[in-house]
Amino acid sequence: MTDRYCVFGHPVAHSKSPAIHAAFAAQTGQAMEYTAIEAPLDDFAGAWRRFTAEGGRGANVTVPFKEEAFRLCDTLSQRARRAGAVNTLVLGKNGLTYGDTTDGVGLVRDLVRHGVTLAGARILVLGAGGAVRGVLEPLLAERPASLVVANRTAAKARALAADFRELGTITGGGFDAVAGPFDVVINGTSASLAGDLPPLPDDLFSEGATAYDMMYGAEPTVFLRWAEARGARPVDGLGMLVEQAAESFYQWRGRHPDTAPVLETLRASL
Ligand code: ATR
Repeated sequence: MTDRYCVFGHPVAHSKSPAIHAAFAAQTGQAMEYTAIEAPLDDFAGAWRRFTAEGGRGANVTVPFKEEAFRLCDTLSQRARRAGAVNTLVLGKNGLTYGDTTDGVGLVRDLVRHGVTLAGARILVLGAGGAVRGVLEPLLAERPASLVVANRTAAKARALAADFRELGTITGGGFDAVAGPFDVVINGTSASLAGDLPPLPDDLFSEGATAYDMMYGAEPTVFLRWAEARGARPVDGLGMLVEQAAESFYQWRGRHPDTAPVLETLRASL
């Protein structure tokens, strides 16, 4: 029987993950199937159980199931435990479910691919929701000089920073307390969806700084347009999407796919 994988979400019809994993599978000669499954909002665990009963070996998990997926796992990676969420499920040979989160590794690999040096860098992360929580451990593992988390609701940023304090120099607060310059500024808020921009000072960026938006689209986000006008190099989150997928693929199949051609095809299709 062909090994089955899927992405669970709700909604999930527009997910790019099936195309990405089909490309990885073709490239590495893996016989596998990867589909998109809309799980019921009130029974994610049942959806995973049914999937594995029908030959499912692993899955990606997207909005709004990442926390529920975390709760059903029998074992978890260290980074998933800290994130409190998983985007990758693996069915072990023993029948137990292992959970990991590959978003943060995906972000770090994409930044590195763009030539960004994280070691010793002054990093600002905007937002303090699940998306940001999921990337802090891999970012801190790169040993930045400092990492500031800024959020509309300052208390959330402070609490989040406190959760990661033992891993590095990390502080949290409101947008009003942000004082640059920063070498890397990462937008992990969903403000772009509303066409909004967090209120930020104009002198945010150091010389040669990179502005990264975890979101992507056919057009640059409001944040990236704003950042480019202030001298930063804009990078959107499409590469992070492909890199996190590649890490999930590795967890399932033990093969590292070549992400560059897959990203190129995806970019052209936006
Ligand atoms: P996700 O899983 O995408 O992180 P989330 O947990 O709902 O979603 O978090 C959304 C993030 O975007 C939060 O940091 C939120 O700020 P608050 O904590 O103050 O709500 C931020 N956000 C959403 N809309 C925003 C806006 N218009 N301006 C600034 N920040 C915004």
